[in-house]
Amino acid sequence: MSIHKEVKRVTTHVLQEMKLRGEKISMLTAYDYTMAKIVDHAGIDIILVGDSASNVMAGHETTLPITLDQMIYHASSVVRAIERSLIVVDLPFGSYQGNSKEALYSAIKIMKESGAHAVKLEGGREVKESIERILTAGIPVMGHLGLTPQSIYKFGTYNVRAKEEEEAKRLIDDAHILEESGCFALVLEKIPAKLAEQAAKELTIPIIGIGAGGGVDGQVLVFHDMVGLTHEFNPRFLRRYLNLYDDIKSAVGQYIIDVKSKDFPNANEQY
Ligand code: KIV
Repeated sequence: MSIHKEVKRVTTHVLQEMKLRGEKISMLTAYDYTMAKIVDHAGIDIILVGDSASNVMAGHETTLPITLDQMIYHASSVVRAIERSLIVVDLPFGSYQGNSKEALYSAIKIMKESGAHAVKLEGGREVKESIERILTAGIPVMGHLGLTPQSIYKFGTYNVRAKEEEEAKRLIDDAHILEESGCFALVLEKIPAKLAEQAAKELTIPIIGIGAGGGVDGQVLVFHDMVGLTHEFNPRFLRRYLNLYDDIKSAVGQYIIDVKSKDFPNANEQY
């Protein structure tokens, strides 16, 4: 029987066992109570309260504007909904890059005020000290390498990362550094599948991919993309399971018609 069905609560320890047993880890983003409840009841292993909330919830072009307090607002809504999943919260841009003390302060604030279980931050060797300091407070840390959207103005594009040998080697080195620093898992975003598979083979901690192929230990997608609420974003790695943009638009269209035609409410829909 899979651990997926056995466990009452997913912990970092459970994820480690899943990697050892070769059971793939499922992860999705969620940012609010109602959606988190559905995702948790469906049996997802990890819910990521991603800073992609900046894009899909707030309509910003990048993940940079979202604040620590806004992340805490989203995370605490998710925490109130879940019974089983492990909840990981992104440390937002500007809340950890200054120094390790600032990183620790931000991680503690998230944990204390939201009730989440772990934090995620972007970067390699440059955030090693911060990861180690956060861990001293007993807060589990997930790393994030490859396409790291908080650095979009450095990269210039959202194209696939680490296609060249030098960047690929640096990514593998960074992955080892993050594991040695104590990260319980890593997200690898939009890198060649072979490179991600190499990382998953070399590292003992779970590697969760997004646009990183099937050779890793688990997959993550942004919820709004996966259910088709966003319809303009069409990267090759995205599998849409629903087309909610079209479905909701046509439901709203029908509602407008019903209101204007006085079909709604009918005799049974009133007191
Ligand atoms: O913020 C987010 O949604 C993420 C995922 C893309 C991994 O970091």
